[in-house]
Parts: sequence; C-alpha cells; structure tokens
Amino acid sequence: MAFQKSLFALSLLAGFVIVGSAVQAHEHMAPMPTTPGGKAAYTRHENFKLQGAAFKAIRDELKSDSPNMALISTNAAKLKSSAEALPTWFPKGSGPESKYETDAKPEIWSDPVKFAAAVKRLQVETVKFQPIAAGGDLGAIKAQAQAVGGACKNCHDSFRVPEEK
Ligand code: HEC
Repeated sequence: MAFQKSLFALSLLAGFVIVGSAVQAHEHMAPMPTTPGGKAAYTRHENFKLQGAAFKAIRDELKSDSPNMALISTNAAKLKSSAEALPTWFPKGSGPESKYETDAKPEIWSDPVKFAAAVKRLQVETVKFQPIAAGGDLGAIKAQAQAVGGACKNCHDSFRVPEEK
C-alpha cells in the first residue's frame, strides 16, 4: 500500500514537473524583440504588468477584513508614478507594425488627442488617489480606487485589443 501510495505521489510530482516546465517554456518562447519598436512594446508589457500588479494589490487589500493601509499607500504611489510615465511607453513604431505581440491598437497613434485625454484621466485620478490612500479613510479610498479603475477601463475600452475570453 505504502509503495503504491508513493508511486502515486511520484507520478503526481512528475506531472507537475512536466506541466511546470511546459509553462516556463511557453513564457520564454516569444523571441526577445530586436527592433526598437519591438523592444518598446516588450518594455510596455512589463510596465503594464507592474501597473496591473499595483492596482490588484490595492483591490485585494480593499476586499480583506483588515486592509493593510501601508500596502495600499505604497501601491497608490506606484500607480501615480507609472501613470506619469505612461505616455513614454508608446513610441511610434511600437504598435502592431512592430511585429511584436501587442494589444495596443493603432488608434493610439492615429488619434493622439483622444489617447492623450485617456492618459490624462488616469493621471488626474492617480494624483488624487495618492494622498487619499495615505490618509487611511477606507470609504474615501474605496471610492477613489473605483475612479482609478474607471480610468483604466476607459482607456482599455478604446485603445486595447479586448482580451480573449
Ligand atoms: C491611456 C491608456 C491606458 C490606461 C489609462 C491604462 N491602460 Fe492598461 N493597457 C493599455 C494598453 C494600450 C495596453 C496594451 C499594451 C500592449 O499590449 O502593448 C494595456 C495593457 C494592460 C495590461 C496587460 C499587460 C500585459 O500583460 O501585457 C494590464 C495588466 C493593464 N493594462 C493594467 C492597467 C491598469 C491597472 C490601469 C489603471 C491603473 C491601466 N492599465 C490603465 C492602455 C492603458
């Protein structure tokens, strides 16, 4: 019995190892871009991942019974600085024509006025959010987190290729 059990455990483990390495291989499969546009698209993904992680950290705390206020405040500061930097993540040539995998729509470059307005909206909301987050009033933080989320969605709706469901 014990032998069978450990065989079972071993085959489970082997399964995990195989699945695990397949996932890793997949992550590393996309070739590193070599063109300036491709590199910019790659960097932009990394930046959005950080921005997404900062916002998720805040939302997770807001769902918890005892939100970690310091964590909320730190991540709100991160959101503020990433929103400030966001306009530099979209150099010309880093769109679909870069041939690098990107969900950035061509309208970012063909409708720069509308795109700038979407950027501005996030900047305004994250600038407001930072002191509110540091202030520790949970109700106010929740309301402003909503406003920030609205600014993310506003831009994604127009300028990001919708995620596959
Ligand atoms: C002004 C436009 C704009 C705003 C505002 C914006 N985003 Fe995005 N976001 C994009 C675009 C465009 C992409 C697709 C980038 C690409 O694929 O090259 C994207 C992609 C992402 C991704 C996917 C990253 C990946 O894995 O490729 C995440 C996560 C994300 N945004 C989170 C956020 C969050 C959170 C906010 C608000 C705090 C936000 N975004 C605000 C335009 C915006």
